[in-house]
Amino acid sequence: MEKLIVEGGRQLSGEVRVSGAKNAALPLIAATLLAPGKHTLHNVPDLRDTRTFIKLMGELGVTSERKGDVVTLDSTHLVHAEASYDLVKTMRASVLVLGPLVARLGRAKVSLPGGCAIGARPINFHIMGLEALGVSCTLENGYVDAEISTPLQGNVIYFDIPSVTATENLLMAAVLAEGTTVLKNVAREPEIGNLVDMLTGMGAKIQGKDSDRLTVKGVTSLRPADCRIIPDRIEAGTYLIAIAASGGRGTVTHCNPAHLPALLEKLKATGLIIDETRDTISVSWPGGTANSSRKLQSVDITTMPYPGYATDLQAQFMALMAIGSGVSLINETIFENRFMHVAELRRMGADIRVDGSSAVVNGKGMRGLSGAPVMATDLRASSSLVIAGLAASGRTEITRIYHLERGYENLVEKLTGLGARVWKETM
Ligand code: EPU
Repeated sequence: MEKLIVEGGRQLSGEVRVSGAKNAALPLIAATLLAPGKHTLHNVPDLRDTRTFIKLMGELGVTSERKGDVVTLDSTHLVHAEASYDLVKTMRASVLVLGPLVARLGRAKVSLPGGCAIGARPINFHIMGLEALGVSCTLENGYVDAEISTPLQGNVIYFDIPSVTATENLLMAAVLAEGTTVLKNVAREPEIGNLVDMLTGMGAKIQGKDSDRLTVKGVTSLRPADCRIIPDRIEAGTYLIAIAASGGRGTVTHCNPAHLPALLEKLKATGLIIDETRDTISVSWPGGTANSSRKLQSVDITTMPYPGYATDLQAQFMALMAIGSGVSLINETIFENRFMHVAELRRMGADIRVDGSSAVVNGKGMRGLSGAPVMATDLRASSSLVIAGLAASGRTEITRIYHLERGYENLVEKLTGLGARVWKETM
């Protein structure tokens, strides 16, 4: 087991390059199941989650090879249609093979993911949508058994809540269904746009990209894909917040500023200076870097489906607000248990009170936090502890850092490149 040591109090500066998006890579890898042949994906981040997903694909019969950030996947011969509990329990996104397997093979068996650290996270929308396309789904022994007796049939499917992976799963099933499928009230996250582009490149007929309604005209077959993963907007946002919280100035490169509308407005509202180009975002304090006369305004956030403020950037923003100059109200509307980082941030001196789905953060100012031993509980909670550690005086030791490794490529190297004193130690 390893822990991460952060020696805080150093102002970060310089440039950091953003990797491909984890949450785009996973559905795009799953989509290679839809067409036999050799698919090429570019800008695939090398993370614990992408490795786990590629391992799952291997169990299904997909062979793969990685050269740098390019991954080729050959899905010519599928040998299996099952995602086991052993894999699904380590990565809920494994459920993304359900739609494409049913579309390609007519059947799939996927372990039902249990609850996770951030909430119950049911998959009822995935199942309801597949049933609407004519799939019979039974739940037995902890598995969803999905099967069709006649070809998938297009239908109208309305989601009560926009769900990212349910939209992706249904889209992947609908592209090979007979007739037209209309998906209403779908999620509009940029990762779904990336999947739409990949599927369209494979020969799928989809209208409504980036809107809340996707219309899919089914086709009988698709060809292999050659597609690029979009930049990771959550990673970009995490580094912007980290640089700001350290009191420094810096630039995230190879990103898409248009994918971070809410975060950039909120950072500006704190008084920070944000400069964008087509593929970079710079953050700085008025006059350059933080000093004793500069204060960070506290601002409120409410997490919402895209283009609202991303739940995956809530914990990081809370760490920033912990060193703000006033009171910030943070509302979490997507997941019911996404405040696990609060108790750990408190150990570092943060003044945060939780009431249901809201947290009230009483900012302690730039010198307000001090390093402490803390425990990571989920991916984004972990990155908020790193941010707090960078802003704090003294040493922070973060255990359970495997959570971080699920979603941040070369975190230590990237932070070190920005001038942070961060390293891993074996426990
Ligand atoms: N929901 C249901 N039933 C369903 C599906 C979702 O009630 O069948 C609810 C969820 O419980 C939640 C809301 O709908 O309250 C939205 O959840 P969504 O389905 O959109 O989440 P997800 O698809 O499981 C993806 C990301 C998450 C990210 C959320 C929200 C991937 C692989 N995962 O999860 O990413 O937080 O969307 O944006 O794309 C992360 O990267 O750290 C992460 C957790």
